[in-house]
Amino acid sequence: MTNFVYLNGEYIPADEAKVSVLDRGFMFGDGVYEVIPVYSGHAFAIEGHMDRLQRSLDAVEIKNPLDIQVWQEIINHLIEINTGNQDAMIYLQLTRGVMEKRDHVFSRDMQPTILIMCQPMEYPSQDKNTKGIKVITRDDNRWADCFIKSINLLPNVLLKQFAVDHDAVESILIRDGLAIEGSASNLFIVKDDIIRTPPISRHMLGGITREVILKICSNEKIVAREIVVTEDELHDADEVWITSSTKEIVPVTTLNQHKVGQGVPGPKWQQLIELYQQYKQSVMRS
Ligand code: PDD
Repeated sequence: MTNFVYLNGEYIPADEAKVSVLDRGFMFGDGVYEVIPVYSGHAFAIEGHMDRLQRSLDAVEIKNPLDIQVWQEIINHLIEINTGNQDAMIYLQLTRGVMEKRDHVFSRDMQPTILIMCQPMEYPSQDKNTKGIKVITRDDNRWADCFIKSINLLPNVLLKQFAVDHDAVESILIRDGLAIEGSASNLFIVKDDIIRTPPISRHMLGGITREVILKICSNEKIVAREIVVTEDELHDADEVWITSSTKEIVPVTTLNQHKVGQGVPGPKWQQLIELYQQYKQSVMRS
């Protein structure tokens, strides 16, 4: 079945979609993106993703070319012509646009390049949920503005690849003695029944899945604190989870080759993953 993408106002087959070599996204990684999960044909937590897109655009001084309603219409149409009412994921990328010649300096009246793709959702295998995953810690060598969802992901790519090459799934990044987040995920720990996640800062990406989990905890009166997690506290945690739009909540059972807690997914994770699935269902019905 043909996969259609949206490129600069047109819905076209993915293999016909072309962008200039002088696009600043290609030349400089000069652009931002979003990944939005789609459940039964509905884009999940779209408002949160659109707010974060706006924050990223503001931070890199790209003017948002479309109203939120128009973004939503395009996304819904793309879902309809690709995956219909199945689960899927939307990848949305906006670069500063095409320049006349290679130049670091940009003009502020450029026409951004907009690409949106809709692909089937690849869920973590059931094994990951029953056995949990392995992660390792790495120094956070990314730049200081990680709150921007920049398409310039080379450090993240290398950090993730390092994990995979060392029999792990994700790198948990350590900056100044604090555990910040994963290379492509946010971090939660549980200690003495209290859920903790590092607070929003410029050094991490404010994940939408993280926001949803905090909201569920607040609705259900489950204690969850946004508070720094030191590297020692990470190692001493009863449970560790990583979260993202494509992985939801994944339990970590091995950290740097040592067991986390009992070495199996913990009871708080079990509780939260169930509540997360219920929350998804309730939002999709409303
Ligand atoms: N990444 N932190 C980083 C560095 C990330 O790349 C991601 C997600 C997250 C979690 O954010 P959210 O819950 O909004 O997905 C945190 C996406 C999925 C990606 O790059 O593919």
